[in-house]
Amino acid sequence: MKYLLLMLMVSTSLATAQDGKTAYTSNCASCHQATGKGIPSAFPPLAGHFTDILAADGRAYAINTVLYGMNGAIKVNGKSYSGVMPALGQLSDADIAAILNHVSTSWKNALPDTQKLFTADEVKAERAVKKTPEQVHELRPKGLK
Ligand code: HEC
Repeated sequence: MKYLLLMLMVSTSLATAQDGKTAYTSNCASCHQATGKGIPSAFPPLAGHFTDILAADGRAYAINTVLYGMNGAIKVNGKSYSGVMPALGQLSDADIAAILNHVSTSWKNALPDTQKLFTADEVKAERAVKKTPEQVHELRPKGLK
């Protein structure tokens, strides 16, 4: 019985760490929507846009938006956003990696050839350097439209 419980616990935590879609639905979809399309002028889209962030070398920036939040005016596809993205650093490194991989490969988003999937170690390395939401804004690639 004890072992069964242990196995159940282990398999549950593996499932949480790996299921980026579920974790996205619980932690991101209220703002960025299940479709990833966001809400114009309130919550920026990730569908059709996250790949641009990656291609512009915004990998560390993306990890940090989730870990430490983001505050500062941005433009996405010509629309302005000046809300605040809350810090979601209470999520585990593995969950954050799984969510970002879900976002990178959903809604016709695709990882650019030059990029590999996000890993928990990568998230851990960014977590080690604390930032304010304003400092995260400064990490945003300048070329993004
Ligand atoms: C409470 C609403 C809210 C939640 C929940 C939320 N976000 Fe955000 N997100 C925002 C807002 C608002 C912005 C834009 C902030 C600004 O303009 O400073 C943003 C910005 C971003 C950006 C940067 C987009 C860009 O073009 O620079 C990324 C990436 C992102 N969010 C991903 C996520 C992920 C992944 C999750 C879930 C782990 C998440 N967000 C959860 C509201 C939210």
